[in-house]
Amino acid sequence: MEGGSRVSIIVVSFVSGGLNRLPEIAMAEMNRREFVTTLAAAAAGICLSCGGDVCFGADAAPAPGAGGTNKVDIGTAADYPSDGLYDKYLKDQKIIISREGDKIRALSGLCTHKGFPVTVKGKEIVCPKHGSRFDETGKNTKAPAASPLFHLGISQNADGHLIVDKAKKLGMKELEDPSSFVKLG
Ligand code: FES
Repeated sequence: MEGGSRVSIIVVSFVSGGLNRLPEIAMAEMNRREFVTTLAAAAAGICLSCGGDVCFGADAAPAPGAGGTNKVDIGTAADYPSDGLYDKYLKDQKIIISREGDKIRALSGLCTHKGFPVTVKGKEIVCPKHGSRFDETGKNTKAPAASPLFHLGISQNADGHLIVDKAKKLGMKELEDPSSFVKLG
């Protein structure tokens, strides 16, 4: 197993050679940047996607409490009784829920400029990092973000619960795709 031998070399070298030998041995298998990043992240116990500051990879991370998948149960339509933006899953899941009439959609809560988390301010979505703004549909309305927020796949299960699929990203041109909204009956 090629992957297994790579791990063995690194572990053995750590034990027998100490930190001084790590770069030379590991460089045979990984480039320097990859190795240093991996080692530092492992030592700090942080997610490589997060960078310890903000989780740029939140969309790809398993959803806590969702069985280790990207599927997130956001409750039922009754939790979104009127039109507008809902941020109840923004902090933990980086998901914004939007209701417009009989359609419920899910938007990514990560700014398309540099991936920082956005916030909901009334009918607007604002990125506090550099000031980008987005309207209720996720369309970018103020730079520096040059593209809209992604929409996320959403469906309704047999129990009537709304399930967001963070792994399924849709652009503005796909807003009529059936997987980009749940139509309430
Ligand atoms: S990361 Fe959002 S405006 Fe820069």
